[in-house]
Amino acid sequence: MTAITTLPGQPHIAYAGDQLHVEGLRLSDLARVHGTPLFVYSKAAMLSALAAYQRGFAGRQAQICYAMKANSSLAILQVFADAGCGFDIVSGGELARVLAAGGDPAKVIFSGVGKTRHEMKQALQVGIGCFNVESEAELDVLSAVAVDLGKVAPVSLRVNPNVDPKTHPYISTGLKGNKFGIAHEDALRAYRHAASLPGLKVVGIDCHIGSQITDSTPYLDAMDRVLDLVADVESAGIPIHHIDFGGGLGINYNGDTPPEADALWAQLLAKLDARGYGQRQLMIEPGRSLVGNAGVCLTEVLYLKPGEQKNFCIVDAAMNDLPRPAMYQAFHQIVPVTPRSGDGKVYDVVGPVCESGDWIGRDRQLLVQAGDVLAVLSAGAYCMSMASNYNTRGRAAEILVDGTKAHLIRQRESAFDTFALEQLV
Ligand code: LLP
Repeated sequence: MTAITTLPGQPHIAYAGDQLHVEGLRLSDLARVHGTPLFVYSKAAMLSALAAYQRGFAGRQAQICYAMKANSSLAILQVFADAGCGFDIVSGGELARVLAAGGDPAKVIFSGVGKTRHEMKQALQVGIGCFNVESEAELDVLSAVAVDLGKVAPVSLRVNPNVDPKTHPYISTGLKGNKFGIAHEDALRAYRHAASLPGLKVVGIDCHIGSQITDSTPYLDAMDRVLDLVADVESAGIPIHHIDFGGGLGINYNGDTPPEADALWAQLLAKLDARGYGQRQLMIEPGRSLVGNAGVCLTEVLYLKPGEQKNFCIVDAAMNDLPRPAMYQAFHQIVPVTPRSGDGKVYDVVGPVCESGDWIGRDRQLLVQAGDVLAVLSAGAYCMSMASNYNTRGRAAEILVDGTKAHLIRQRESAFDTFALEQLV
């Protein structure tokens, strides 16, 4: 019988014998047929990540709005729309994607500090569920846009609870020095202002404190701060219909041990119940934890370049495909899809882009030869959605695996595609 070795936190990505598989398919076959760099996602992994949240909310009124910035490819949105999810969007472009994927606009919430009038209009016209408003100035503009259209905009105020999520500074969002949300001490005034405006209807409150959070304490602290505000706002005669606790739950990249979604929510719901808010309409906006560990990026080894201080393993994926290491010094595991036996050498795994910041992994023990295919793990979130065309590199193709079926969900971009909208003078 073939030995199965699963990877930590990624039960749908496993070695069967000496071949790395996503669900029932060999990654070496997918790389051969579709070329590299290639993103490969497991549908079962996404649905099982979603199921952990659904179990956590069993018996509650809760709406899961997938934060699609994590991975906004249409077929990924389709998986979540079909499973009953709404979407957390941050631009008119994301709204257009939700509609193209068959998502329900009534289950869309619109976050972000810089919504334009045009985006507000677009969202009001299709009847989104709620605007998560991030400043008092935005309240005035949204009300005016709604009045012009003869509509009333449902709003929730994103409050900044000033809680440290203990994550990378670029992805912590709920601290005083961050640009996000309305300061806790200004929130009651902002609610009064919102309630007085003709184009708005206050429906909720929300917060989002950061991303890749691996501990439940910041969530529990933020929940206390938000519930204190709900009490104050309701005492001022403004009912809060729903409470949105944002996203942010981390995943295992490198031995990280975030709580499971259902375990986290068991703790949070116990606090909600204790404070008498357990029967409220709840919302959450998870992104990374639904897709991060459902995807890998396959890349071919182009050259091995030994050096005095470093050995380089030069691969065909780069910072334009996998921007997280360059942007946040993020760690992604890198494994061969068909391991060789032996010890190998320590390499920096780097891409072809002309920047020293173009690295994918540093000091990795690998036994590889040119032509081998490597899998960069935990690449389902914030990789393809952040990919660029830097160095006029077409973006990678994407495959969604469902059992033993591989669906090509995005074709590889050609050089022509990257300049199709340009013209000579
Ligand atoms: N809701 C709001 C308002 C957000 O700003 C975010 C993420 C989410 C939900 C989803 O958070 P998640 O569950 O995915 O942690 N590019 C960075 C992550 C940026 C997160 C931005 N906001 C990275 O690659 O680590």
